[in-house]
Amino acid sequence: MDQATQNGARNGATKASGLDGVVVADTALSEVDGERGRLVVGGYDIEALAGRVGFEDLCGLLWTGALPDAATRGAIADALAEGRALAFEQIPSLGETLVGEDGSAALMAAVAHFGARAAWRAAEGPAWIELARVTGAVATFAAAWARRRAGDAPIAPDKARGHAADFLRMVRGAAAPEAAARALDAYLVTVADHGMNASTFTARVVASTGSDRVSAIVAAIGALKGPLHGGAPGPVLDMLDGIGEPSRAAAWVAAELAAGRRIMGMGHRIYRVRDPRAAVLERAIGELERDGSVGARLALARATERAAEALLAERHPDRPLKANVEFYTAVLLDAVGLPRELFTPTFAVGRAAGWCAHVEEQRRAGRLIRPASRYVGPVPAA
Ligand code: COA
Repeated sequence: MDQATQNGARNGATKASGLDGVVVADTALSEVDGERGRLVVGGYDIEALAGRVGFEDLCGLLWTGALPDAATRGAIADALAEGRALAFEQIPSLGETLVGEDGSAALMAAVAHFGARAAWRAAEGPAWIELARVTGAVATFAAAWARRRAGDAPIAPDKARGHAADFLRMVRGAAAPEAAARALDAYLVTVADHGMNASTFTARVVASTGSDRVSAIVAAIGALKGPLHGGAPGPVLDMLDGIGEPSRAAAWVAAELAAGRRIMGMGHRIYRVRDPRAAVLERAIGELERDGSVGARLALARATERAAEALLAERHPDRPLKANVEFYTAVLLDAVGLPRELFTPTFAVGRAAGWCAHVEEQRRAGRLIRPASRYVGPVPAA
């Protein structure tokens, strides 16, 4: 018996496995059913939310437990807009923070800076006012980073616009077509929450220590940017560019697999069927297609998905590996005019709503998350 096995046996532990299936919290926020391909958020199937209600409504659902009435929706929209504006006011004092190749790293630094100032705090009113301000700030900083990277000046937010439309305007420099803003809104709703994913878990761990809300969001962005989590959609677009046309998809995917590389946008830790969010995004892209802004990329994506699914099934007959949310995210975000290096920060713009809700839930649970490890190092001489 080797040292690790001896120690494991002594500690009565099983092999560390990435925490698959381990329940770390009770949550009323969302549930992922990986066998049936179902995502429920706040009591609604994702298909009933994305493209049907706006991001402000989804924030209300996550932060108050119910889809908001018109007055609450308006108050949430105002608080998101305040967050966007507060963040914009802080940009001149950020120095080189919003410069650099890594948009998520820039976002972490800017949001940490936002948290260190008192301006986002609300002395009175519901807790979601602060959540909305932080969520709003993420959009402004992400857009400002993209502008600076393109050599352009950041654009001030417009409080009269919805969150998705204003984010898109701050990135593109001019108001986007209605259909593009609607598609991005559907995307933000689709990705707002998704069970105990790695970045949400990260946020909850930080919240469980009694740390502040913004620290939890900063840590979550750091977890999100990894290629196995939220870092995949940029590489999906690179892949589609590399393939070029549908007839080349199968050969391209086969060569990647033969070289031992993973196909980005395929596979999921939980889903054993197609990620339901992929279908929801495909629907939103379909609407853009009618608008003429998708071009040939949707057909290429569909052909690539078919080829990858078939080849992965041959290689892993016992482990279904299907398209995940990132696959069609790449097509949608490109079609609405966002640069690919902004895809992961844009994921954070939507997921910030879920992180905030989980942070509140964890604070209410009030218990430090502190798992155990299995010692596999040397033991002291007797
Ligand atoms: N392409 C090729 N092979 C893949 C694969 C992919 N996208 N996803 C999983 N596999 C293979 C693994 O190499 C492994 O093969 P092996 O048993 O021969 O070593 C097997 O399938 C099981 O994979 P495993 O790493 O246990 O799955 P996981 O649950 O840890 O991984 C992901 C889930 C999402 C990390 C994984 O599917 C992946 O890397 N996908 C690509 C990145 C991506 O799209 N990320 C966004 C997630 S929303």
